[in-house]
Amino acid sequence: MSIAVISYSYTGNNKALADRVAKKLSVEHIQITEQKKRTMGTIIFDALFNRTPRVFPAPNIMEKHDMILFFSPIWMGMAAFPMRTYLKYLKENSKKYCFISISGGAVNGNPTIEGNLEKLAGRKPSALIDLHISDLLPSHLKSDMKSTSSYKLNENDIEALTNKITKELEAIL
Ligand SMILES: Cc1cc2nc3c(=O)[nH]c(=O)nc-3n(C[C@H](O)[C@H](O)[C@H](O)COP(=O)(O)O)c2cc1C
Repeated sequence: MSIAVISYSYTGNNKALADRVAKKLSVEHIQITEQKKRTMGTIIFDALFNRTPRVFPAPNIMEKHDMILFFSPIWMGMAAFPMRTYLKYLKENSKKYCFISISGGAVNGNPTIEGNLEKLAGRKPSALIDLHISDLLPSHLKSDMKSTSSYKLNENDIEALTNKITKELEAIL
């Protein structure tokens, strides 16, 4: 089975995790980028108008793979908006995928993400792994959105989370 890791990251956490998992599985890692640097303004704009932004490379690079492991932040309970382009492509081009995220987790555990993925891609992911920064913080900071949003994964976090992800994926890959 040909597997690809495809990531989008705004502040670097999902990129760091995607990099390490791709290395561990010895698979290609493709990073989704945008022409203009994303800002909080364009995040809010895309949320309000439900936009699917133009991204690079184009999603047809998924064609040669059988299984896609997406890494992406969760924004407002949804897959980060640059991911929409790739997820929507799967609706027309049926392919197995997993959705993996290191998200903030400060509020309520992202109950809407599974429905959002199903709506965009036309099917549920083979695995949905939503890891939370709040679980890496001391108890008095777990619900503090400022602390979860500004946290940068360190080497120990990346190693531990990578082991967790690859173990969960063992049954699927
Ligand atoms: C605009 C915005 C909205 C966010 N919404 C959520 C959310 O709904 N749930 C959550 O758990 N984390 C949320 N977060 C936190 C990010 O998912 C978290 O900081 C993540 O680690 C960022 O990943 P990145 O470094 O790969 O961009 C949000 C962050 C931003 C910037």
